[in-house]
Amino acid sequence: MTSRIIIAVDGYSSTGKSTFAKAIAKEMGYVYIDTGAMYRAVTLLAMRSGCVLDDGSMDEERLRRLLSGHPSADVSFRTSGSGGASETWLDGENVEKQIRTIEISRVVSHVAALPFVRQYVDKKLREIGLRKGVVMDGRDIGTAVFPDAELKIFMTARPQVRAMRRYEEMTARGHHVSYEEILGNLSERDYIDTHRETAPLRQADDAVLLDNSDMTVEDQIMWFRDLLKTRHLCGY
Ligand code: DC
Repeated sequence: MTSRIIIAVDGYSSTGKSTFAKAIAKEMGYVYIDTGAMYRAVTLLAMRSGCVLDDGSMDEERLRRLLSGHPSADVSFRTSGSGGASETWLDGENVEKQIRTIEISRVVSHVAALPFVRQYVDKKLREIGLRKGVVMDGRDIGTAVFPDAELKIFMTARPQVRAMRRYEEMTARGHHVSYEEILGNLSERDYIDTHRETAPLRQADDAVLLDNSDMTVEDQIMWFRDLLKTRHLCGY
């Protein structure tokens, strides 16, 4: 089909972007790409290779060399059996679990602020986007990676709602974290993501705002269906 489109879903951390993006990808029969996972995998690589120093600073040169292939390191997405969802791989290892820890969350915004890391990830995302028929969630998909995306959605929700969602998600996975720690981590990431020099998080001028503080996933899907109708995008 030639008329498939790119849907960019950007927004703050823990606004339910991935749940929403996955659901609409299923609705459209599209592939879902979680671009934050790629930044998380690069962060895991940085931590495993000793690029994150004990005092919390970064050996940027070492990470730059790794990402340019010396020695070679590869972060990629592979689509799993059913449902079109992709999983994140680092050098031949499925790292979906390892990239979702609070340790990675603490460092990832710093890694994602490095321009050469963004270039590395952007190149991979644009290659995936060439195939169209994709829903990508992230921070800068509609502003920097695919400024010409046919449909852009920007997600937000009240910070307390976001922190509670992330808290429930992490405790359900068996992580021992406090609500306060999560809320603190979220506001720190909001600050770094919106204030970095390269591709800061902001709503694209032509993005539609979705505040889902008081919406269920079902509500959001209904909202999306209405949006497709008003934009005359049904059938893509
Ligand atoms: O969505 P997430 O929490 O997994 O994202 C992890 C980090 O990656 C987040 O702090 C911001 C960064 N990120 C980014 O800068 N650009 C993207 N397109 C996606 C994520």
